[in-house]
Amino acid sequence: MTLKAIQYNDGVLTLLDQTKLPHDITYIDYTDYEAVAIAIEDMVVRGAPAIGITAAYGVVLGALQYNGETSFSHYMESVIKRLANTRPTAINLLWALNRMEKEVTEDVNPTIKALEALAETIFEEDKKINEQIGHHTLSLIQPNTTFITHCNPGSLATSMLGTATAGFYLAHEQGIPFKVFSDETRPRFQGALTAFELSQAGIDVTTITDSTAASVLQQQEVTAVIVGCDRVALNGDVVNKIGTLPLAIAANFYNVPFYVAAPTPTFDLTVRSGNDIPIEERNTREVTHIQEIQIAADVPVYNPAFDITPNHLITGLITEHGIIEANEHDITKLFEEIGG
Ligand code: MRU
Repeated sequence: MTLKAIQYNDGVLTLLDQTKLPHDITYIDYTDYEAVAIAIEDMVVRGAPAIGITAAYGVVLGALQYNGETSFSHYMESVIKRLANTRPTAINLLWALNRMEKEVTEDVNPTIKALEALAETIFEEDKKINEQIGHHTLSLIQPNTTFITHCNPGSLATSMLGTATAGFYLAHEQGIPFKVFSDETRPRFQGALTAFELSQAGIDVTTITDSTAASVLQQQEVTAVIVGCDRVALNGDVVNKIGTLPLAIAANFYNVPFYVAAPTPTFDLTVRSGNDIPIEERNTREVTHIQEIQIAADVPVYNPAFDITPNHLITGLITEHGIIEANEHDITKLFEEIGG
């Protein structure tokens, strides 16, 4: 995968404009944290880990923009608050911002250096997490296996190999033949991004509409479903892109294992179950229009961006520390072991 969703160099954050993919490959340079906040809201950048990394760099840009009008720490509080309010569901955003906030002191230049270093660390840590999740996923990807994935849990949503896609990249590198079905993922078609990035890497990928997934599970030998996630609750319930729940139900019905690639920064142990996780509702225009063309009647639209998959539908959570069961006992044990 050669396309990089996020790059930072010397006070300039460069984002690949994902709203234009796959037809246009356009990069936008940012030096203003407010513009970064809008980019997150408008999905120029998207995917839980990528949102966290971008917000961290947004904090750096905010610090660089400080003009001395109020106290630095007070100003930085407002920068972080603005970035925190961009999208409510992916916990990686708050996880990254909480870490960044701890670096802020009244000493402007040392703080800027510390913030830059931490944003870089968060970026680099995510690359390692991708790789480790990939290695743990490899055991599932035997020759001639078949997978379904949903949304874009790929390189474009993270720092490097993606979460649910990381095993695909590593298996392909090892010459293992396998096949991936990628749900289109209405209404924002993130599945098209998955198909785009996997096909660019030479992986055998087929696009299906979301409603085709159950038929694929019925008709084909599907080895497993592997999806990403935006937040995991203490009890192992998973919030991910809308359409994940019906996929999990269908996989369960056909006895196909359902895995969630879940980096530890995506766990939120402060929420007991998925029902306590805020679900973002987005603009109805995402459903009624494709680009500028209206495709729906003028009727009310319900457009939740995420759904909650209950833990009992999940075969395993593929973390960077190994595959665990989606329950409070195993999650608590993991975080005790890693000291989280
Ligand atoms: O609304 P998006 O595109 O930010 O949602 C992305 C997803 O739901 C992904 O599946 C999730 O973030 C996992 S990404 C590694």
